[in-house]
Amino acid sequence: MRQTNIKGSRGFAATLAVLAAGVAAGFAPYPAHAGPEQDRIHLIGFYEARFPKLKLDDYVNGVYAINPQMRAEWEQIMVFPPYLPALDTGKKLFHTKFKNGRSYADCFPHRGIGIANTYPRWDAKRGEVVTLALALNLCREANGEKPLPYGKGKIADILAYMAETAKGKKIHVVIPANDPRALEAYERGKEFYYARRGQLNFSCASCHIQNAGRLIRANTLSPMLGQATHWPTYRLKWGALGTLQRRFRGCNKQVRAKPFPFQSREYRDLEYFLTYMSNGLPEVGPTVRQ
Ligand code: HEC
Repeated sequence: MRQTNIKGSRGFAATLAVLAAGVAAGFAPYPAHAGPEQDRIHLIGFYEARFPKLKLDDYVNGVYAINPQMRAEWEQIMVFPPYLPALDTGKKLFHTKFKNGRSYADCFPHRGIGIANTYPRWDAKRGEVVTLALALNLCREANGEKPLPYGKGKIADILAYMAETAKGKKIHVVIPANDPRALEAYERGKEFYYARRGQLNFSCASCHIQNAGRLIRANTLSPMLGQATHWPTYRLKWGALGTLQRRFRGCNKQVRAKPFPFQSREYRDLEYFLTYMSNGLPEVGPTVRQ
């Protein structure tokens, strides 16, 4: 499968320039003073107009929902998905006891089973958004263990197991009304999504809203709706499972912007916003992408 070769690629910049020209003439989707629920409904309306034949639940399949040829290849791969060994490892790691005899299960509601669809969560005590990856490391630290490195490896394996146990449940991210800081975090995430950055001056929205469904060199651009439903994901390009924030970093680098650190406030707020937009869609992680 072909991948976009971005580094030093004038072709890529030129493609972006063409896409950007289309954007200027098109839809300006930043919904300025709406609440999260209005934002979500507005977004669904936008995509319904662009992809009238697509069923809402199919958005979890990203580009495969809109590109039949790619979908056929993907369905072949999904017959025996390459993440299965990692999923097994994740299950073992999740149930392995820490040195103090406790385990991850002791840190989570419902002992961690079938809850991945409810993250990220607003943590009022900490006054910040806690992603599931961060929650795993907070659990380790509370039990005297060193945190795991983010992005890939063991943490991705454990996240895959946790996602698998929540498969089919609806994404259910809550922005508590009784704590205005939660809404502020959501708003910061939304601003991040629409902010132009990098040498190429593109926002997330430029590609995944305005240009969703269009081609960027060999890649079809997926709609933002549904993008947070299937993590961690086994990317053929990575040859392994990786987390949603690893993907954020990749997308930031594509426009030659400096990526933020894993679990930075910026990325946690972005994940809060992005996942809220997928509320109501089924959790389908882990999965496979190009
Ligand atoms: C220059 C265009 C571009 C920009 C800007 C961009 N992306 Fe992407 N993004 C892509 C491409 C290409 C892919 C791979 C094909 C696809 O799934 O859309 C991708 C994939 C993704 C995926 C995985 C989708 C899936 O189904 O697995 C996520 C999540 C994502 N981007 C989020 C973001 C976020 C958040 C931002 C802003 C920080 C962003 N992107 C900015 C081009 C872009």
